[in-house]
Amino acid sequence: MALSKELILRVPDDWHLHLRDGALLQAVTPHSSAHFGRAIIMPNLVPPVVTCEQAAKYRARILQAVPHVVSGGHVFDPQMTLYLTQGTDPDDVAAGAKSGLIKAVKLYPAGATTNSQSGVSDIEKTYPVLERMSEIGLPLLVHGEVTDPMVDIFDREAAFIETILDPLRRRFPLLRVVMEHVTTSEGINYVRSQSSGLAATLTVHHLIINRNSLLVGGIKPHLYCLPIAKREAHRLALVEAATSGDKRFFLGTDSAPHVDAAKEAACGCAGMFTSINTMSCLAHVFENENALNNLEKFTSLNGAAFYEVPPNDARIRLVRKTDPVVFPAKIESTDGPVSVFNPGFDLFWQVEQDALAHD
Ligand code: NCD
Ligand code: ZN
Repeated sequence: MALSKELILRVPDDWHLHLRDGALLQAVTPHSSAHFGRAIIMPNLVPPVVTCEQAAKYRARILQAVPHVVSGGHVFDPQMTLYLTQGTDPDDVAAGAKSGLIKAVKLYPAGATTNSQSGVSDIEKTYPVLERMSEIGLPLLVHGEVTDPMVDIFDREAAFIETILDPLRRRFPLLRVVMEHVTTSEGINYVRSQSSGLAATLTVHHLIINRNSLLVGGIKPHLYCLPIAKREAHRLALVEAATSGDKRFFLGTDSAPHVDAAKEAACGCAGMFTSINTMSCLAHVFENENALNNLEKFTSLNGAAFYEVPPNDARIRLVRKTDPVVFPAKIESTDGPVSVFNPGFDLFWQVEQDALAHD
């Protein structure tokens, strides 16, 4: 009989998560709270979360959707963000940061992705907010894609770095920035080129799929997300960065659920639901790279260090099964079913639900 392998990790954090609202919030939140300690909650609701008052109310709704009994001996702690607009009030941002409610501000270029209509079209209009954030050390999270219709969708991240992000970093050298869901070798190289103040989140799905997965043999709407999956060479660069242990790279799942009817449509929504099998997928990827010893850095240590919070005390246990672990193909919500990310291969690692003692 094959030896069963197990991994004990500090409870992971998800530094980029969409929990939505209403029926989807109820359906997806238990899948994040089951495995994750903290999660940075994306503010792209309709209407977006632009004020501290809205963020406080949204946080309360999230906590109501967390099951009372959380396995793993940890408590799920949603870390709230504000959606940056050209009208964002620097005083409101600073007050939210001071109170501990607001952990970051999210920059969506207007029109770049799902629910980004209220985003920024003229970055200079946000300078007073960015100035204040630099002073108080509040991170700016960027959706790093340009929206110029002349720029090819596969080139939008690289163009963003050159035309927006690098000039912004030069103008605000003390502003702490996270490039969210980096998808290209240009993004990885840019993060590596900066000695401080810049980090990047990496998703599960971008470590697993490339653009062929999305487009060859028929279009797969459940693999459509933004930024769009790129060539295999880029995926390999992401895997190298994630598994390297480099402190500047950490997990942000970008789990972004949409009901199937919205994905399987003539104009399907971007985003996929990955929270439920994130840890199983990551253990698989890290094992393939002989890098299981760096998994905890990616999921539980590097992000906490960037956000200047201690790592979680509680532990989770991952066990490698001899038979494939079966995940549901879909979860139900009262708005309709939501398909679960299918990596396209069998998964053997499973999070065990038993609670482990704190330190
Ligand atoms: C996200 C969503 O649906 O809110 N979609 C996605 O493809 N990742 C928005 C985003 O993070 O770009
Ligand atoms: Zn996202």
